[in-house]
Amino acid sequence: MKRQNSFPSKAIATLFEAAVKARNNAYAPYSRFAVGASLRSTNGKVFAGCNVENASYPVGTCAEAGAIAAMVAQGHKRIAEFLVVGGSREPVTPCGACRQRLREFADPGVLVHCASPSGELASYSVETLLPATFGPKHLGERR
Ligand code: THU
Repeated sequence: MKRQNSFPSKAIATLFEAAVKARNNAYAPYSRFAVGASLRSTNGKVFAGCNVENASYPVGTCAEAGAIAAMVAQGHKRIAEFLVVGGSREPVTPCGACRQRLREFADPGVLVHCASPSGELASYSVETLLPATFGPKHLGERR
């Protein structure tokens, strides 16, 4: 965790710590690829999640989905900053479905920090991860 001191902000260090903690609880006996995710909501609360796999493989859920569900369950709806950490040497990036999940609860400019276990970061905006996105507008809803 040496890299934690060199994170660009204290906020990112806090998110990294929360995501690593959740990752330690990941249930990934099939892929053996543990993932943790954390977010700060616009009201300043931190939520975290991990991947939870299933013997019926498609039923498994991603860490990002867990963190978002934890936020929504506490009555918060908007993400201010997000971080995901996986087991690969290169920072893990959210899968396609999770990009759509992020897009639902985060503005286009919100940063998603993709981290390696050693704290290496690659940061992308939600819009960069999922351009020309499908959203509520297409359903004729107003936000
Ligand atoms: N996984 C995540 O939880 N988040 C990602 O961003 C990438 C993939 C999980 C799903 C599955 O449990 C395991 O990692 C291998 O794909």
